[in-house]
Amino acid sequence: MDVDIGNALASVASPGVSRASLERLDERVADAHERIERGMTNREHGYEALNLPERTDPDEIRAAVDPVADAEALLTVGIGGSSLGAATIANAFESDTETVFLDNVDPAWVSRKLASLPLEETAINVVSRSGTTAETLANFLVVRDAFESAGVDWTERTIVTTGDSGPLRDLADRHDLPSLKVPDGVPGRFSALSAVGMVAAAVCGHDLEALLEGAAAERETLAGSLFECPAYAYGATTYALDGRGAGTNAVMPYAESLETFAEWFAQLWAESLGKDELGQTPVRALGATDQHSQLQLYRAGPRDKLVTFLTVDGGPDRSIPETDVDDLAYLGDSTLGELLAAEFEATEASLAAADRPNVRVELEAVDEYELGGLLYGMEAACVLAGELYRVNTFEQPAVEWAKKATRGLLGGGEFEEAEAVAEKTELR
Ligand code: PA5
Repeated sequence: MDVDIGNALASVASPGVSRASLERLDERVADAHERIERGMTNREHGYEALNLPERTDPDEIRAAVDPVADAEALLTVGIGGSSLGAATIANAFESDTETVFLDNVDPAWVSRKLASLPLEETAINVVSRSGTTAETLANFLVVRDAFESAGVDWTERTIVTTGDSGPLRDLADRHDLPSLKVPDGVPGRFSALSAVGMVAAAVCGHDLEALLEGAAAERETLAGSLFECPAYAYGATTYALDGRGAGTNAVMPYAESLETFAEWFAQLWAESLGKDELGQTPVRALGATDQHSQLQLYRAGPRDKLVTFLTVDGGPDRSIPETDVDDLAYLGDSTLGELLAAEFEATEASLAAADRPNVRVELEAVDEYELGGLLYGMEAACVLAGELYRVNTFEQPAVEWAKKATRGLLGGGEFEEAEAVAEKTELR
């Protein structure tokens, strides 16, 4: 990926960051880079995620999914980091396999999703690092029951990805299900380039090697200066802008196929950096759609935002048919791709003209190689930003708190978090 921070500089934008302050920040980037490299070498928790391009074994993943490789549909049951990476990859590319992601536990939605699937031709991909997440386990039990009610043997059609131990691992062992392990030291939201994100990609027939090669190429760009490394340029610029008042980061891909990427990014940024009363609030947007809604706020609302554009150079196009309606003649000379590019250029220029900071992240194409680089680059940017904020990027105590409270409220164990919720409810 390439990163252009020109429209985030103080001469163009407010709140912008000056070149001189980025140069000063670069000394901290050099130290942070050393810390990151050390963490990777020592395979420390979290930093190990940046080693995935060389550690993930595509053959192992393909062997595990072989029994269901001809499935017409794939139902992935998981939530948060155990869903969004897989969904980002699956939704980026065409496939003959229909993909459905069951993360939420809204009963009407779950029932509708299940009813829409040809269960006899559907494979189940259940993913949970801890193996204890209530939403995932509950949905899996519901899915199993639906398969049994339809007379379909779910044990023949299920792949499990989980940790070494826990209820999901026990279940996989009891039914002798094909299973993969979530790699040690890799937090959920950093696991897209492991089996967690790549089982779905394998069933859909996507190029796993290219995903990892793209990520490996991005790893090669990590260097001790933000001026030499696109990922660090992004992480350091967002950090600096946040310090100057851009507390919101609206991520706006100009590609429908990358809409889920914005969701993945929002999780990565929020759950990793939102600590100690620090962190930037990620917002999901989509170009050109949100030019007709959120853009008003970005250009004329409070000066507390950074807009991150994600653009794709090239790809399939479609010409706009000619018409004899005079006022529409200009469209007939163009393609939809040209129109989308013009929409982006107009939006980027309009924000710059209004002194609103924006950063452009550029991909050469929406393919596995480029997406692997993008996922890796943003993970590296996030790790760098975490070092600059001095937060623990790889923990998520607020998320864990809510998980325990939920389990406790349903009688799934004694948790002080659940007692706190009960007390608060009684006080109302
Ligand atoms: O990044 C994280 O740690 C979380 O978003 C988890 O991925 C999410 O809570 C799901 O957890 P698990 O994989 O244990 O079911």
